[in-house]
Amino acid sequence: MNRKYRKTVIAGNWKMNMTASEIKPFIEQLKENMPKTRTCDVVLCTPAVMIPAMIKAGKEAKVAAGGQDVSKYEKGAYTGEVSATQLADIGTKYCIVGHSERRQYHGEDDMLVNAKARALLEKGIAPIICVGESLEQREAGVTMEYVAYQVKAALNGIDATQLRRCIIAYEPIWAIGTGKTATSEQAQEVCEGIRAVIRKIYGARPARAVSILYGGSMNAKNAAELLAQPDIDGGLIGGASLKPVDFATIIAASNQ
Ligand code: PGA
Repeated sequence: MNRKYRKTVIAGNWKMNMTASEIKPFIEQLKENMPKTRTCDVVLCTPAVMIPAMIKAGKEAKVAAGGQDVSKYEKGAYTGEVSATQLADIGTKYCIVGHSERRQYHGEDDMLVNAKARALLEKGIAPIICVGESLEQREAGVTMEYVAYQVKAALNGIDATQLRRCIIAYEPIWAIGTGKTATSEQAQEVCEGIRAVIRKIYGARPARAVSILYGGSMNAKNAAELLAQPDIDGGLIGGASLKPVDFATIIAASNQ
């Protein structure tokens, strides 16, 4: 983390878990276990139908609500999709795009991720743009080239002012939901590399101000070490964000 230049963000990704009625008790437990003063922004990304309940329950605890996906289209005949306008209208502040599960199960490619990020930015929602290599790519030694391409493609056409609202999440696919975390050195190396890619496109100042999160089996035990790395500005947390005590511990770890 480097709080002098950028925000620390601890974001939970609930994926397709929990229900709207479980949110209030969850937030209450989280509040009980969270440090009173915090130095990070806390976000919980839920299925779209649960966002209003999260906004309501999270207000007092200062937990922001985020979505997990958005349509690249503004409106129209796209059954089942949710637009950035609709997310913004209910008060959504953040939204994940390009999560590896969307890429893998829904065939999302980098240009679609870019279109979605731009759709969100137009409506004032901060995109949490996920990138990350597979195990095969890591073993083949192409991690940085691949992640650099993903970042470049995702940021295509996004100007420096809009970049200020963007959050990048580095999530090695082999570490997601596997209990296998990247070492803090591995995570730092790629997050530093991502910042270098952004520096090349936008220059030193904008690159210094972008929050880059690590995701992939971050938990109550390993969070402090990962967050101590200079280019890791927070976490995108799946499994451990479903447990209020663990999530609160990760939030506390970011207070270091
Ligand atoms: P995990 O998920 O923390 O359960 O590995 C992270 C993510 O998919 O964002």
